Amino acid sequence: MEYINFPKLNIRLSRFGMGCMRFPRIKDSSGKSIIDKPESIRMVHYAVENGVNYFDTAYFYSGSEEILGEALNASLRKKVFIATKSPVRIVKKPEDFDTYLIESLKKLKTEYIDFYLLHGLGSNSWEKVKKFKLLDKMDIAKKEGKIKYIGFSFHDNLELFKEIIDSYSWDMSQIQLNFIGEYYQAGLEGLKYAASKSIGVVIMEPLFGGILGENVQPDIIEKWDSSGIKRTPAEWAFKWIANFKESNVILSGVSNLEQLKEDIEIFNNAFPNSMTEKEKQTIDKVKKLYERMLKVKCTGCSYCMPCPSGVNIPGVFTFYNRAFLGNSESSKLGYKSWFCISKEDASQCNECGQCEKACPQNINIMNNLKIAHEYLTS
Ligand SMILES: NC(=O)c1ccc[n+]([C@@H]2O[C@H](COP(=O)([O-])OP(=O)(O)OC[C@H]3O[C@@H](n4cnc5c(N)ncnc54)[C@H](OP(=O)(O)O)[C@@H]3O)[C@@H](O)[C@H]2O)c1
Repeated sequence: MEYINFPKLNIRLSRFGMGCMRFPRIKDSSGKSIIDKPESIRMVHYAVENGVNYFDTAYFYSGSEEILGEALNASLRKKVFIATKSPVRIVKKPEDFDTYLIESLKKLKTEYIDFYLLHGLGSNSWEKVKKFKLLDKMDIAKKEGKIKYIGFSFHDNLELFKEIIDSYSWDMSQIQLNFIGEYYQAGLEGLKYAASKSIGVVIMEPLFGGILGENVQPDIIEKWDSSGIKRTPAEWAFKWIANFKESNVILSGVSNLEQLKEDIEIFNNAFPNSMTEKEKQTIDKVKKLYERMLKVKCTGCSYCMPCPSGVNIPGVFTFYNRAFLGNSESSKLGYKSWFCISKEDASQCNECGQCEKACPQNINIMNNLKIAHEYLTS
């Protein structure tokens, strides 16, 4: 595993960080989807044994903090850095900040959190941070030893990203970045901006929530292979982001042990400034193909959930995007036999609009749900 000196903080972090938002899931006896706890714990242990020392979770990732806390017993805890996040979206008054922090500490079974982030900042939540003086709260928590480093994760435009970066002496920031989203949200320019202010950056969604890694279309595989370089699509995507020295830690949520093993192996050999011109040209060609194929820029982060009408919003968009990324008939079949039967399909939407307020990608969810439903049931 490659390690980096995180800007300003004098700590060494593994270049690959385990995203704990996508722990593997199974169905319980009543058919409800739950985190596969033994397998998730096994994966956390495998990651630590193989040099990963950065783990990202959040108050909002239901069940994730508890499982990470259970996996990291007293001796492992000292070897790793935990990042978790304050759920700004549901903070209704300043004191809520303290309540959620105490809850996260309890769930994680730890006396301190290494990186405490304001979760998913965008224009509304940033206003709330200022109105409730949540950065003063962060400072107090740091003085009390409950948290070590202060940061934020971000889902909005570049202009706001720069404003937030310049508003406080942050210890770190977390942005979404992948090779099909160079100009999306904070984007590459945001990455370089934070680095120019010596603020370390953690990258999320390097595989665009999995779309760039799994079930990749033959057209795209062909383009990758035409480079003459033998690599999986996930490896290409990770190497693109690892090539930027400013992307200090790169998170990926792994859904099974095989992916974790592959990702760790990739990050044993992914170094900044190591990509050749030919590799960059291959990536540009693949990017153009993706731009033509993607219908909805949903990354499956599930911030829009739960939907009061029961629509599985990220699931619908996954079927819809996947249909255009190569698997039209099986996507339609999957949608009908899975979501339409369980009444999680897009036709359940009653247009309350709650999802659109929560979506970090600013997707026009309600309209896209209609279009997706029409296509997937055709
Ligand atoms: N703070 C925020 O606002 C925010 C938002 C989103 C995410 N996050 C954090 O950032 C982390 C990273 O984001 P992400 O989970 O979206 O990362 P990602 O790397 O874009 O997507 C992860 C998904 O990629 C697929 N994958 C991983 N390794 C693979 C491999 N070797 N080959 C093929 N497919 C592979 C898996 O999906 P499938 O198996 O399903 O195909 C996995 O669930 C999250 O886990 C979470 O902790 C934070």
